[in-house]
Amino acid sequence: VVGPVREIELATYRVTVSAGALDRAGEIAQNVAPAHRYAVITDSNVGALHAARLRASFGDARTFLFTIPAGEAHKTRDTWSTLTDELLHTGFGRDSTIIALGGGVVGDLAGFVAATFMRGVPYVQIPTSLLAMIDASVGGKTGVDTAKGKNLVGAFHQPAAVIADTSLLGTLPAEHLRAGFAEAIKHGVIADSAYFEKTARLAANLDSLDVSGGEMLDVVARSIEIKATVVGQDEREGGIRKTLNFGHTFGHAIELCSNYEILHGEAVATGMVYEAGLAELLGLAEPGTADRVRDVISAARLPTARPSSMPGDQVLRATHTDKKARGGRVEYALPIRIGAMHDADGRWSVPVADDVASQALR
Ligand SMILES: NC(=O)c1ccc[n+]([C@@H]2O[C@H](COP(=O)([O-])OP(=O)(O)OC[C@H]3O[C@@H](n4cnc5c(N)ncnc54)[C@H](O)[C@@H]3O)[C@@H](O)[C@H]2O)c1
Ligand SMILES: [Zn+2]
Repeated sequence: VVGPVREIELATYRVTVSAGALDRAGEIAQNVAPAHRYAVITDSNVGALHAARLRASFGDARTFLFTIPAGEAHKTRDTWSTLTDELLHTGFGRDSTIIALGGGVVGDLAGFVAATFMRGVPYVQIPTSLLAMIDASVGGKTGVDTAKGKNLVGAFHQPAAVIADTSLLGTLPAEHLRAGFAEAIKHGVIADSAYFEKTARLAANLDSLDVSGGEMLDVVARSIEIKATVVGQDEREGGIRKTLNFGHTFGHAIELCSNYEILHGEAVATGMVYEAGLAELLGLAEPGTADRVRDVISAARLPTARPSSMPGDQVLRATHTDKKARGGRVEYALPIRIGAMHDADGRWSVPVADDVASQALR
């Protein structure tokens, strides 16, 4: 049974959000990206749970299932080459559509396969984690990690459709649900104070939230709208798209220092607390902004500080390895209050000297 449906129209594709949308995925994919064959790419966790239902939604159309091992460690060129070889061996050609069924790892990887296979074939994103629904599946960034860092090889390739079935979040481990929720909190901070207040209300009861209900539908749909609006104004990250990096300069550094033991959303949650503090330190943000951010992060049982075993100067050093660092000074996208970001004369991020940044980590 498909519950209430939210449709978000983007420039070149539509995002469909509803509890139960998976059962319509075959119909939608065949409409927007008709193909001779459909390659469903998924991972070992998600495939076991949801691939059969997805394939059933395709009726008589020809679907083939390609399953990669779950985990960031497999978002690599090796997995990309295995997948493209398998597609070729199975007889896939130009007349193919890729279906990405999974979290952000599968979405980025399958999207990169779609961007490169036969110089580009259509793909449909079926995100199954909260992070993938509200972040990774929208914006057209695809790619893989290398030994030097995350997402260093990739391409922009817009999907033909995104289908977010919120009921699939019912099988997502709770820590991943909370980690994804950090990005929803971020969307409120950067663009919509009323939405921020909504995330604040939901934060305390995340574990008992009905993922198939109206509140989760609202969160996924509103977050996608915010991300899509920002990305739509700046597809290649020259300006306002940088606002989506709020919490991510320190966040990425914390992730790196933890050797990726800390989940991305958890690291971003901590990064938002520090960066909101930095915005106040620099006199850019209204006093109280950082406290408000910290309160909500804490209510969502996300970490408000880095582990005590992780020194501030290590985090600071790690900010320099982020690809956003330019000309020696690391850039931060900072709020001026809940719901609005500092525009920095259209650059939407400010270079900050290390001695100032280090104060924010205290
Ligand atoms: N392209 C972009 O714009 C963009 C944006 C943000 C993040 N990302 C990328 O997304 C990735 C992180 O995404 P993620 O957090 O979804 O990680 P993930 O894909 O590894 O998923 C997290 C875990 O949850 C499991 N899982 C996913 N959905 C499930 C479900 N419904 N039921 C049970 N288990 C489920 C997965 O198998 C995995 O073990 C990173 O590689 C990051 O770089 C990309
Ligand atoms: Zn993020």
